[in-house]
Amino acid sequence: MTEVRIRPRQVLVLIIVFIIVLMMVHRNGKRTCQGPEYLQALYAEQQADTLTKIYAITPTYSRPAQKAELTRLSHLFMLVPSLHWIIVEDSNVTTPLVTNLLHRAGIEKRSTQLNIKTPPEFKLQGKDPNWIKPRGVEQRNLALTWLRSHHDNDHHGIVFFMDDDNSYSVELFLEMLKIQPGRVGVWPVGLVGGLMVEKPLLNDDKTQVVGFNAAWRPERPFPIDMAAFAISMDLFIKNPQAVFSYDVQRGYQESEILRHLTTREQLQPLANQCRDVLVWHTRTEKTKLTSEEALQRQGKRSDGGMEV
Ligand code: UGA
Ligand code: MN
Repeated sequence: MTEVRIRPRQVLVLIIVFIIVLMMVHRNGKRTCQGPEYLQALYAEQQADTLTKIYAITPTYSRPAQKAELTRLSHLFMLVPSLHWIIVEDSNVTTPLVTNLLHRAGIEKRSTQLNIKTPPEFKLQGKDPNWIKPRGVEQRNLALTWLRSHHDNDHHGIVFFMDDDNSYSVELFLEMLKIQPGRVGVWPVGLVGGLMVEKPLLNDDKTQVVGFNAAWRPERPFPIDMAAFAISMDLFIKNPQAVFSYDVQRGYQESEILRHLTTREQLQPLANQCRDVLVWHTRTEKTKLTSEEALQRQGKRSDGGMEV
């Protein structure tokens, strides 16, 4: 019988391989358990101060892609514990589609489902074809009324107008938590106003907004998109006259609300001194349903008994 001899060198190699494998397993485990750095920071922020809430106000209306849009948003809420969703349906009733969606995401306790229908006269285009009535006015105002009577004024809160079709990075919400009481935070928005990015322009020490790069209607008092800012809740309490209005042209809603609450000089630049794009003004194309309509003319449908 031959004796198997293990040399000390082989033992050493085995130990080294074992240590390397152990380190790899540990690293992978760490990655899946803890997630990226900004998520860590978001949770650390939450543990340090569990009382700051970000109220996201979303007007939404029924159309074929509604559930797809709202599903994307609901998954963002699952990742950001400080978010409270005020979802306002442009409808005479609240719908089971929205109620079920909040339930499936497990965020019923961090959401408020409201409804108010836009009066039909405001859905129509005005006489001037360029004068289209703004969207979401009624719904955002209802959310503000709800907020003014439900927010606990002893705690800092942040209000963000979150349209249902844009694309938002989780990192944006970490930025919002930096908004100081009494201030409005601003940042760049991608794919809007005919530009790759619309952004605030800052002074030399990057602490103050001195202008904007907007190409579309740059003469607006605040030539920025609704997704470009969030507001400290105390400003809404101090300025009860701050509401959205049908009396201003499309594209002026942002200026209409902000003029009551802040000045350009008081804006708080965020997102890496306004160099990072963390939100995009994406727009979903209208769903084409020609075959579905043909089916329905024969008394059939592809989604019988299904919520799409
Ligand atoms: C741009 C701005 O980004 C919006 O914040 C602003 O409300 C809008 O213009 C405007 O001034 O009218 P845009 O992509 O053109 O956005 O508008 P939508 O995304 O179609 O609508 C904005 C929000 O209102 C969405 O959350 C949408 O679901 C909601 N909406 C739209 C309704 O609740 N009812 C409608 O009939 C249409
Ligand atoms: Mn949109």
